[in-house]
Amino acid sequence: MGRNIIILSIETSCDETSAAVVENGRQVLSNVISSQVELHKKFGGVVPEVASRKHVESVIPVIHQSLEEASVRIGDINAISVTYGPGLVGALLVGISAAKALAYTLDIPLIGVNHIEGHIAANYLQDTSLKPPFICLVVSGGHSHIIGIKSYHDFTVLGQTRDDAAGEAFDKVARALGLGYPGGPLIDKASKYGDFSSIKFPRVYFGDGSLDFSFSGLKTAVLNHINKKKMANEDVNLENIAASFQKAVVDVLVDNTVKAACAFNVNKIAMAGGVASNSLLRNEMHKRACKEGLEVVCPKPSLCTDNAAMIGCAGYYRFLAGDFEQLDLNAAPSLKI
Ligand code: KG4
Ligand code: ZN
Repeated sequence: MGRNIIILSIETSCDETSAAVVENGRQVLSNVISSQVELHKKFGGVVPEVASRKHVESVIPVIHQSLEEASVRIGDINAISVTYGPGLVGALLVGISAAKALAYTLDIPLIGVNHIEGHIAANYLQDTSLKPPFICLVVSGGHSHIIGIKSYHDFTVLGQTRDDAAGEAFDKVARALGLGYPGGPLIDKASKYGDFSSIKFPRVYFGDGSLDFSFSGLKTAVLNHINKKKMANEDVNLENIAASFQKAVVDVLVDNTVKAACAFNVNKIAMAGGVASNSLLRNEMHKRACKEGLEVVCPKPSLCTDNAAMIGCAGYYRFLAGDFEQLDLNAAPSLKI
């Protein structure tokens, strides 16, 4: 067995400042996450400039803490991996600058990681024996993709949203219901007290073999429902709306992912991104997969939302491939998978 590879990873693409130490790609020695959620709550969403400033304050202390919790000295690190896109440009630049400074000073390789690839890699941390090929449903605040993973570096997008991301729809509907931010977990909670069959909200399927999603019509249908009830002076049943909306999103996500597994000819489904911590989505995906004879891997909620350990894991496979960046690495806010 060769020497152990220890990677220090940094994630600052949105509103979490995170640093992690990961050994041989799969063993998380530390995963420190400093969330800015309380800061952005009063604005009802992430304010990019505020996020960048908070990352600047937090990034060095978070890196220190990740080394301390891992009981690793800075000199033991073999490479630095960092998210360079997609995400908020000012936020990404903070992590990239810290990563470049460390790679230059320590004279070790710098690895750039696509944030979506990072989300997929969270599954390797959850199930340390998981290997490609498999299908991954990536559902977060900014992305809704079904991706075929052929190898650690070979991805095929099989379906994606044509308008809002799933998490974005959760956040917008939560705001309309006066639930607050971030909306996903609040809708998840409220749904437990509601009847998901009480309101018929639309489910969009494109046909012609397309596995794409569309959530903006569903969001509008929820807003129209709320407005109609208010105009008629009728009670707005928050729990029933939340449960019916959530079921409509989950039905489409599960249907298309299971179809993708058949089309891609694999028997394993993985899940990733903040929305993958949704309790109904996890349950329904397991139920359907079991019926179809498919296996499901789903990271624990702390690995679904943004974290640096997933960036360290994805970075490890780039390290093995010798895929390193120069010190002119720049942020790529619209980076595609
Ligand atoms: O992956 P993530 O932390 O950040 C992005 O890369 O976007 O995902 C955040 C998104 C938010 O839209 C949030 O509302 C949603 O994930 N989310 C959930 C749940 N927990 C977080 N959506 C539905 N149910 C949840 N339990
Ligand atoms: Zn994310």
